[in-house]
Amino acid sequence: MSERIWDVVDDFVDETIVGEDDALVKAREDSVGAGLPGIAVTPAQGKLLYLLARIHGAQRILELGTLGGYSTIWLARALPPGGLLVTVELEEAYAEVAARNIARAGVSDRVRQRLGPAAEHLGALSAEGVEPFDFVFMDADKAGTPEYLELVLTLVRPASVIVSDNSVRDGKVGDPDTPDAGAQGMRRMHELLASARERGTLSSTTIQTVGAKGYDGFTLILVEDV
Ligand code: DHB
Ligand code: MG
Repeated sequence: MSERIWDVVDDFVDETIVGEDDALVKAREDSVGAGLPGIAVTPAQGKLLYLLARIHGAQRILELGTLGGYSTIWLARALPPGGLLVTVELEEAYAEVAARNIARAGVSDRVRQRLGPAAEHLGALSAEGVEPFDFVFMDADKAGTPEYLELVLTLVRPASVIVSDNSVRDGKVGDPDTPDAGAQGMRRMHELLASARERGTLSSTTIQTVGAKGYDGFTLILVEDV
């Protein structure tokens, strides 16, 4: 079968403008080599996260779902000196692979890894009264996303930006009767965003994407008020 056209285009974009270095390529390869699921963001998507964080001038980044640290490295590289990225991962084996990848990329000084369920860590961060995060990337289990969003809202400030990966799920987000728990989670996230829009607290949109990971999308959320 011929290669899908969006794979060809992703390869072209990666080879021309994305500019992955050896540490990022190795992070991708070692994650797959260690048996982690091949669900990391693509190089072009990693670069998008890096650009969004830079455009926003993010200094404190929170990531849910470290996996092998590929998106972590992109985001950490967007930080200015003294910036901090906290990343939460449920699976110890993934976090160990991520720690090696993050160290090789030279960003361990800026990255704090936390191991365990996202909801527990979000609650703990709130209880610790940490400074608000100005950029959040949600990429953990999709069914949990509505709960994570509500907890994340206790950890941000007006003008913070939240990005959710996987908010379209092959189009299943458009089907109210989808049996896919992840897609139902993303529907529920949209419902929460709808009520927040009515209250004037969050502004958001979802953009559908195709590429090397197939058909999915990102949701971009701006905190107007908390
Ligand atoms: C899955 C998870 C992801 O974060 C992703 O980007 C793609 C797929 C999954 O669990 O299937
Ligand atoms: Mg994802």
